[in-house]
Amino acid sequence: CGIVGYIGPRDVAPLLLEGLQRLEYRGYDSAGIAIHSSGKGGGLKTVKNKGRVRELEAKVPARFAGSTGIAHTRWATHGAPNDVNAHPHQDAAEQVAVVHNGIVDNSSELRAKLAADGVELVSDTDTEVFAHLIARSEAQTLEEKVREALRHIEGTYGIAVLHAEFPDRIVVARNGSPVVLGIGEKEMFVASDVAALVSHTRQVITLDDGEMATIKADDYRTYTTDGSRTSSSPTTVEWEAESYDMGGHDTYMHKEIVEQVDAVDRVLRGRIDDRFATVRLGGLNLDAREARTMRRVKILGCGSAYHAGQIGAQMIEELARIPADAEPASEFRYRNPVVEPDTLYIAVSQSGETYDTLAAVQELKRKGARVLGVVNVVGSAIARETDGGVYVHAGPEVCVVSTKCFTNTAVAFALLALHLGRIRDLSVADGKRIIEGLRKLPGQIAEIMEQEDHIATLAKEFADAKSMMFVGRVRGYPVAREASLKLKEISYIHAEAYPASELKHGPLALIEPATPTVAIVPRDDLLEKNRATLEEIKARSGRILAVAHEPQEKADDTIVVPRNEPELDPVLMGIPLQLLAYHTALALGRDIDKPRNLAKSVTVE
Ligand code: G6P
Repeated sequence: CGIVGYIGPRDVAPLLLEGLQRLEYRGYDSAGIAIHSSGKGGGLKTVKNKGRVRELEAKVPARFAGSTGIAHTRWATHGAPNDVNAHPHQDAAEQVAVVHNGIVDNSSELRAKLAADGVELVSDTDTEVFAHLIARSEAQTLEEKVREALRHIEGTYGIAVLHAEFPDRIVVARNGSPVVLGIGEKEMFVASDVAALVSHTRQVITLDDGEMATIKADDYRTYTTDGSRTSSSPTTVEWEAESYDMGGHDTYMHKEIVEQVDAVDRVLRGRIDDRFATVRLGGLNLDAREARTMRRVKILGCGSAYHAGQIGAQMIEELARIPADAEPASEFRYRNPVVEPDTLYIAVSQSGETYDTLAAVQELKRKGARVLGVVNVVGSAIARETDGGVYVHAGPEVCVVSTKCFTNTAVAFALLALHLGRIRDLSVADGKRIIEGLRKLPGQIAEIMEQEDHIATLAKEFADAKSMMFVGRVRGYPVAREASLKLKEISYIHAEAYPASELKHGPLALIEPATPTVAIVPRDDLLEKNRATLEEIKARSGRILAVAHEPQEKADDTIVVPRNEPELDPVLMGIPLQLLAYHTALALGRDIDKPRNLAKSVTVE
């Protein structure tokens, strides 16, 4: 979901619509805006509907004049996506308008209480209760009214509130869902994501959980939910407004795939230390003694971040010889994990806001664990709640599915593994070997991009597949999992990923001509084993596409990727498969940047 708001001298509707468009990638089954009308009679005016921002734009009346407003794009959690459930939500007298990200856990209870008091609830959402609670408060100021309402709420929220009696301000509050203030010249913005602000101002303040703020055209103040002032001065967003544009590509996904050449360069920049054949990770906050004495590494993330974490775990095991594994953060937090004192925990997240990952971090911190972050968005919740970590510097990623951030995360893990390895027992020679390999990556990614036409031709054939199988061994397995996820997310073709070694223990039964296999076949010490797998598949007349370092005889086609150091193979081998997923989805006419039912970051449970 996304929130944007504005207060200042300008005509607000076009600004809000533009902001919503920039947020659509966060969820988009419905959208709406509310403004303080400067037209006849004043008061709050709202327009909202099911569907895309484009459809909302068509519905905004020509004379929807005003210069203060809030807006929302929704990704349904409570209640089906329809016009009534779209935000903003209002009280019956239309005195209050609220937009909300997050989930109110006690909404059924609150709805029942309100209904018993004679309040008519019009939507099925949890958000509507905010509007009624605020409207019913008898407090004098809007800040007090909101504060009073929040006392009844259990759950997570990022909210922005307008009140007809207080046209000079917007009040916002945060608990578990991001809220960012944008500080302009005699105008202020609020949003759930800097993407909605950066074309207007790069001066931002990120609210903490339990913090509220009041913004007026020429003033802002932040305070806690119990009213004490907090001090916050703006920081400058490092990402340029242009990096949120499509830059001549037809989709963000394509732009972000192609951008990887530069993105990987950014994650390496300034970090290589040739003298000691290691890397410098300024924000890591882990001293050499800790690095030497830790006995285990546990990596947590969701979706693509989890897969990148699996690659990271293997790199850490290989280069630093520390037992390491990755687990979905969403599972970890529910299974009452045993938190070991000499285990290093690492949370991985592009957005730094994924609720399951954040909740896992909070649970670990509560139990006294040492938690680092491998995060893309600087200053995001996970970046702030961890003890230190490595920023992946992929730049803004707008397409719902992750590409450049996935790759950069894998490279960031290579840096971390090298760093830990060189503190432990990795030799100078091996350190140099990995550094040379890292330096080759951007050029080699550029070489892979040159094969796009070939991959696009292959993708046309896969567009007819009923189902697809992705297999790889050890280093190739997380690559297979990520490629399979990518394909299903954007093409909606069913796909499974399996360790190549497990194929014969079950999934081989699925192999037939209509179920092609993509096999990851690097030239490493498992090459012969992988070739045997190709034979097994061929014997069942399955079609095979290999991703390998040289053409594979048993495969029907091979995408040849440049050779690097074996530990870095997963970084390169995933990239042609991003292109394969992209072109398969394109051939099927899918909405690539905004796949159905998915959101860029899931900030709710
Ligand atoms: C969502 C997205 C996935 C993403 C995952 C984790 O489910 O659809 O593409 O990998 O969240 O996001 P994060 O921001 O934590 O990396």
